[in-house]
Amino acid sequence: MSEAGGAAAGAAPLLAADGLGKSYGAVEALTGLSFSLAAGEVLAVCGDNGAGKSTLIKILSGAQPASTGTLALRGKPVRFGSPAQALAAGVATIYQDLALAPNLSITENIYLGSELVRAPRLPAVRILDKKAMAQGARSLLARLRIDIADVTRKVSALSGGQRQGVAIARALRWRADIVIMDEPTAALGVRETREVLRLIEEIKGQGIAVILVSHAMKDVVAVADRALILQAGRLAHDIALAGWTADGLMNAIMAEDA
Ligand SMILES: Nc1ncnc2c1ncn2[C@@H]1O[C@H](COP(=O)(O)OP(=O)(O)OP(=O)(O)O)[C@@H](O)[C@H]1O
Ligand SMILES: [Mg+2]
Repeated sequence: MSEAGGAAAGAAPLLAADGLGKSYGAVEALTGLSFSLAAGEVLAVCGDNGAGKSTLIKILSGAQPASTGTLALRGKPVRFGSPAQALAAGVATIYQDLALAPNLSITENIYLGSELVRAPRLPAVRILDKKAMAQGARSLLARLRIDIADVTRKVSALSGGQRQGVAIARALRWRADIVIMDEPTAALGVRETREVLRLIEEIKGQGIAVILVSHAMKDVVAVADRALILQAGRLAHDIALAGWTADGLMNAIMAEDA
C-alpha cells in the first residue's frame, strides 16, 4: 500500500489539516487527523459507519468547530466560524440533500441567497438582474458541459445527476476551489452516477479540488486520486489510489489491524 504525501514539495498545499480532533462529550468522533489536499485533486474520505467522515466534513465546511488541531488554506491558518465563512474562503459543501428548492428554477437555485442586483451600490433600490443571472447560469452549466438550454426549468423537472450539476454550478458561482460532496451518488442509478463522476472529472480538470465522502468504492476508485480511510475517528490509511480496485479498498476499510 503506498502512502501519499499530498502536494509537491515546496509549495503550500491548497488545504492542510494538522491534528484535527473533535469530541462530543466523552465521544471522540475524530482524533489527530492530518492530511493535505492539492488543487485539482480528488480526495475520497472512506470508512465504516461512525468512522468520523461526517464529523470531518462538518469541520471543513464551517458547520462545527474542531476541538483540536488546525487548518491552513494556501498556507494560511484558517478557522471557519460558519458555513458562510467557509464559502467565502472558497470551500463549498454539497450535502446529500443538495439544499435545492425544487419549485424554483435552475437560475434561481444557483443564485439563491446571493441574487445579482442592478445598481448594487443603492441597496434601497433592489432590482434583481434576471438577465445577468440567466446568463451566468447558462455559462456555469456550459462550463460543466451540462446540456440544458432552458435555465428557467424548475429543478423538480431535472434528473438526479442534473440536480447535482445545479448544486455544483452554485458552488462554482461562489468561485469555490474546494468542493466537498457528501455521498453524491448514494441515491442515484447507474447513468446518473456516471454523470456525477463526469462532473467531478470536469471540475477537477479546471483545477478545483474535490473532497468526496462515499461508501461506493467503485466510484471512489473510478474518480479519486487519493483516499483517506478513517477508522474509529483516526486516519488508518492515506492511499494513492492508482492501481487500486474497489475490493482492495473495501478490504483496507474493513481490516481490523489497519
Ligand atoms: N452530535 C454528536 N453527539 C455525539 N456523538 C456524535 C455526534 N455526531 C457524531 N457522533 C459520534 O461520532 C462518531 C463519528 O460519527 P460520524 O457521523 O462522523 O461518522 P460517519 O463516518 O459519518 O458515519 P456514517 O457512515 O454512518 O455516516 C460516531 O461514534 C458518532 O456516534
Ligand atoms: Mg456520515
